[in-house]
Amino acid sequence: MSDSTPRAVLTTESGAPIADNQNTATAGPGGPLLVQDQYLFEKLARFNRERIPERVVHARGSGAYGHFEVTADVSRFTKAHFLAEPGRRTEVFARFSTVAGNLGAADAVRDPRGFALKFYTQQGNYDLVGNNTPVFFIKDPSKFPDFIHTQKRDPYTGIQEADNVWDFWSLSPEVTHQVTWLFGDRGIPASYRHMDGFSSHTYQWVNADGAAFWVKYHFKTDQGIRNLTADEAAAIAGVDPDSHQRDLREAIDAGRFPSWTLKVQVMPVEEAAAYRFNPFDLTKVWPHADYPLIEVGRLVLDRNPENVFAEVEQAAFSPANFVPGIGPSPDKMLQGRLFAYADAHRYRLGVNHTQLAVNAPHATVAHNHGRDGAMAANAGGRAKNYEPNSFGGPYETGRPLWAPTEVSGATGTHAAPSHAEDDDFVQAGNLYRLMSEDERARLVEGLAGGLAQVSRDDIVARAIGNFRAADAEYGDRLEAAVKALRA
Ligand code: HEM
Repeated sequence: MSDSTPRAVLTTESGAPIADNQNTATAGPGGPLLVQDQYLFEKLARFNRERIPERVVHARGSGAYGHFEVTADVSRFTKAHFLAEPGRRTEVFARFSTVAGNLGAADAVRDPRGFALKFYTQQGNYDLVGNNTPVFFIKDPSKFPDFIHTQKRDPYTGIQEADNVWDFWSLSPEVTHQVTWLFGDRGIPASYRHMDGFSSHTYQWVNADGAAFWVKYHFKTDQGIRNLTADEAAAIAGVDPDSHQRDLREAIDAGRFPSWTLKVQVMPVEEAAAYRFNPFDLTKVWPHADYPLIEVGRLVLDRNPENVFAEVEQAAFSPANFVPGIGPSPDKMLQGRLFAYADAHRYRLGVNHTQLAVNAPHATVAHNHGRDGAMAANAGGRAKNYEPNSFGGPYETGRPLWAPTEVSGATGTHAAPSHAEDDDFVQAGNLYRLMSEDERARLVEGLAGGLAQVSRDDIVARAIGNFRAADAEYGDRLEAAVKALRA
């Protein structure tokens, strides 16, 4: 800062000027502190309250602003205003993340990456909270807390335990596809810019005529896919734990704006019941041969947040934030997530988190009768806080955002329905057989490295059995590799 830069006077939080920021007031030159020096206590008390609960998953992440521009006409599939015509641009905030690590964990690790987007549309904020993997480990939301407990620290040892990870995975054969993906070459992206993003779930799109479609989103990186080997990642994580954060921030500051091309797979609703896989099973993909990719538009990130805490740590994404023309599918995992996120935000950030600049609508204004609570800004002003009212209050439209879904049968704790080709292994085997010989070798080496740390033979045998069910060679090679490491 040059001497001519105008400087503000240092003040207390209530704006009074500070005379001395170097020496706390004492009773005489060598005496104890004076309670009347409230400036010190304000600083210390504020400092004690700087941290908020970190996200229970995806704690470690990086964010950036940008825009989404429609490049192809998809109005035959959805009436969503922000997707309605080529050329239309919508402001976006994105947050990428790792899943298991705490806030200060290293970025270059083998872990799925979060790919969360908030579209500030004229019809309200639309959040798409996806990952860089097209599938997920489990397919029932009640298994999520158990699964995450195995990824986090053991209650006794205080570290992540291979026993817990592999015990849960071996007892949950539906993870075999995602685990094969995760230990494949795309399991450690080189940066957030060099990975794809997926909705993973199936969502509903509905057009202006009320016709509904099932849709999966694919954001293809325009930077190209780049990954790290396990050795490269270990070296980077050791010297630069913030490698992904540094890469994204520096690229945007230098004007190298990352972008992604959005494509969707679209399934007419009437094809879902007879499709060979349950189209709402999060552990399965829809092969492109069945449902090819259709271009929609381009996502560009071109502005870094000014303040990481205010805009990234306090960002709140919820899969339940839909806009007219887009809705949920009956995927049980998605249905569970519709509850989990806003609940997490109310705990982590407070009931008024939607009033924070990063979370509030930018292209429209929220009008409702939710009021008060901790840290309420003047939301609603003097307007009546009930509905119906005779004072010009906001009114309901009578137009549902999405189309109704057909249901049948009795209530109960049902497993997700199986379609003709559904089992827990078929797509894991297909993925393995698609890999080159080199990639298979790296996959087996990575899995064996983890399995060899497991203390119980029954867990190892059960885990290998799942991979063998996907592909006999896959299981045999893994068994031999684990045996060699444990010898
Ligand atoms: C039933 C299963 C799941 C539950 C209960 C769940 C729950 C949560 C919770 C509580 C958070 C922290 C939210 C916050 O504090 O702001 C979170 C973050 C996140 N989850 Fe999930 N999750 C589930 C599955 C998934 C799946 C399948 C995906 C991807 C397809 C996903 C992607 C994300 C992402 C990207 C974030 C970070 C969002 C951000 O950047 O703020 N989650 N999840």
